[in-house]
Amino acid sequence: MTIAIGCDHGGYALKTILVPFLEQKGITVRDAGAHSTEIVRYPYYAAEVARAVARGEADRGILICSTGIGMSMIANKFKGIRAALCTDTYMAKMTRAHNDANILCLGGRITGDMLAMDIVETWLATPYEGGRHDISLGLIRDAETAMTNGEPWEPKGTRR
Ligand code: RB5
Repeated sequence: MTIAIGCDHGGYALKTILVPFLEQKGITVRDAGAHSTEIVRYPYYAAEVARAVARGEADRGILICSTGIGMSMIANKFKGIRAALCTDTYMAKMTRAHNDANILCLGGRITGDMLAMDIVETWLATPYEGGRHDISLGLIRDAETAMTNGEPWEPKGTRR
């Protein structure tokens, strides 16, 4: 498995912990930076990781800023990306099982190192359940396609 990882200054400390944690698991890590706590703009790093995942150059991505919020906002603008900000292991489990999230966002100033490692471990280990969740993911894809083409979008079908 290859994981693309990126951070800004607020996520740098946690990234330095997660990179060796992932490598110890035999995962290939593609580190998009940042490489210090110097103040940088998080969208640059989110774009690099989101593109790597969207193009299939990485199986999944991890993005870390101070809160994880900015990273999730920008990552979700990329076609094919389902980025999820997780602050506990239940969220990590559910966003894999139900949303098939392909990017995990973490808040380096929100989530402690040990919990972050548990979140990553759970997120990596949990498979997508498929089944009824395919319907919602299909609707997300429809919305994404329409909005990419600048078209209005209304969900089709029933709400159930
Ligand atoms: C940087 O100070 C901070 O705004 C950024 O890391 C992130 O938390 C934004 O969502």
